[in-house]
Amino acid sequence: MLVSAKEMLTKAKAGKYAVGQFNINNLEWTKSILLTAEELKSPVILGVSEGAGKYMCGYKTVVGMVNGMLDELGITVPVALHLDHGSYEGAKACIEAGFSSIMFDGSHYPIEENVAKTKELVAVCNEKGMSIEAEVGSIGGEEDGVVGAGECADPEECKMIADLGVTMLAAGIGNIHGKYPENWAGLSFETLDAVQQLTGDMPLVLHGGTGIPEDMIKKAISLGVSKINVNTECQLSFADATRKYIEAGKDLEGKGFDPRKLLAPGADAIKATVKEKMELFGSVGKA
Ligand code: 13P
Repeated sequence: MLVSAKEMLTKAKAGKYAVGQFNINNLEWTKSILLTAEELKSPVILGVSEGAGKYMCGYKTVVGMVNGMLDELGITVPVALHLDHGSYEGAKACIEAGFSSIMFDGSHYPIEENVAKTKELVAVCNEKGMSIEAEVGSIGGEEDGVVGAGECADPEECKMIADLGVTMLAAGIGNIHGKYPENWAGLSFETLDAVQQLTGDMPLVLHGGTGIPEDMIKKAISLGVSKINVNTECQLSFADATRKYIEAGKDLEGKGFDPRKLLAPGADAIKATVKEKMELFGSVGKA
């Protein structure tokens, strides 16, 4: 059964480790992530962007697929199904469809409007026992065509949003989605420290987990980050393994064109990436 992310993140914050949010795109992604979490006895959060939700035929299909897998793969570790960077309408649709967690990304609204909409969604999520993530300070890079600049959040605004009763808070600290450019300035630990001082026990979320050096990840966890989002890195490892398979001409050998064979190296590559991240984040054995 899907669970809210609240308990796993409260434990992570107290235990000084982070739970990974791995974004899903299709059946192979979902299966690879769930099997790895189960094998490593790690809690896990499956992230679904609005674009990926559409791609997978809509939120109800996603909920059906994930619930089916939890049952038929015998998954016993805590799993949350979470809307990633949800719009107000998207958040409502996911609540309706049976997600166990949502992110309402109101970072592009003026703060008053972000507050009003977040408040309303917090009340609905509380009533349903769901977790809700809010964002302050836009996370840069491109995601589903939305490009942000990678700004640093105002710690006072973070406190204001945290006090609305959200479960976890994403604060921009110079992180961006996708690959980091050569001249990236790195994470702003000053901002993170200030946010954590003001928000206390609130689990903090680090978006753009792909390509952040290990020492920065560890330092971020030590400063209160308890959820780290990874998307692009699984896509890169999947694409790389699939390309190798094709370039080696394996799809032309025997029944190598069978999708179950063709997609297997990519699915294994996702597993390896997820494993590496869970080890780095410290969530192994914490289920
Ligand atoms: P990356 O694609 O950079 O790993 O970011 C993922 C993310 O933050 C999803 O919200």
